Amino acid sequence: MRLAVFASGRGSNFKALVDARRDGRLPEAEFVLCFSDKTNAPVLDIAREAGIETLHFSPKDFASREEYEKAVLKHLEAEKIEGICLAGYMRLVGSTLLEAFPNRILNIHPALLPSFPGLHGQRDALEYGAKVSGCTVHFVDGGVDTGPIVVQRAVPVLDDDTEETLAARIVEQEHQAYPEAVDLLSRGLLRIEGRRVVRLRSAD
Ligand code: GRF
Repeated sequence: MRLAVFASGRGSNFKALVDARRDGRLPEAEFVLCFSDKTNAPVLDIAREAGIETLHFSPKDFASREEYEKAVLKHLEAEKIEGICLAGYMRLVGSTLLEAFPNRILNIHPALLPSFPGLHGQRDALEYGAKVSGCTVHFVDGGVDTGPIVVQRAVPVLDDDTEETLAARIVEQEHQAYPEAVDLLSRGLLRIEGRRVVRLRSAD
């Protein structure tokens, strides 16, 4: 499965995916392209070092989200991309991309959804007083972190945690959970039944 990774920041999840592919843990997933909405995103350097094609567009150079996504889509189609992994991509995906990749876009979120969606999953869990948090890989739909859940991993929230220490504990699990979910998707082992994502034993 030819995949593009969309990211806006440091790219540790992107790196975890690329490392998993290199280690033979993602036999059917090929990371063809790294796209960023930020020209100077560190993730682009990680991609260049890994020999993966990079692409960046600034949404403010386009009249609308639709125009921006159409420009991105043109490149994805030229590269015969079959799915997208959002890895710290700090924008909502619009209908142009959602319709081009139905049930083919995954996201990773740093909380146990449906608790604490949005931009500050770790901080929100800590401030709420949750004793357990974690990460969620889910399909992307038109909402904010609302799509069907593929993989979740839990971590404890400790009494002396700060946002940073909790985020560090969660991101370790993200680096395990995301390759696991991408492996299942790329091997055709996921079936969506309503809100539930069922793992198939083999691709039949
Ligand atoms: C991760 O915490 C991810 O869950 C969230 O954004 C962060 C991206 O981190 N969506 P990185 O750029 O992959 O290091």
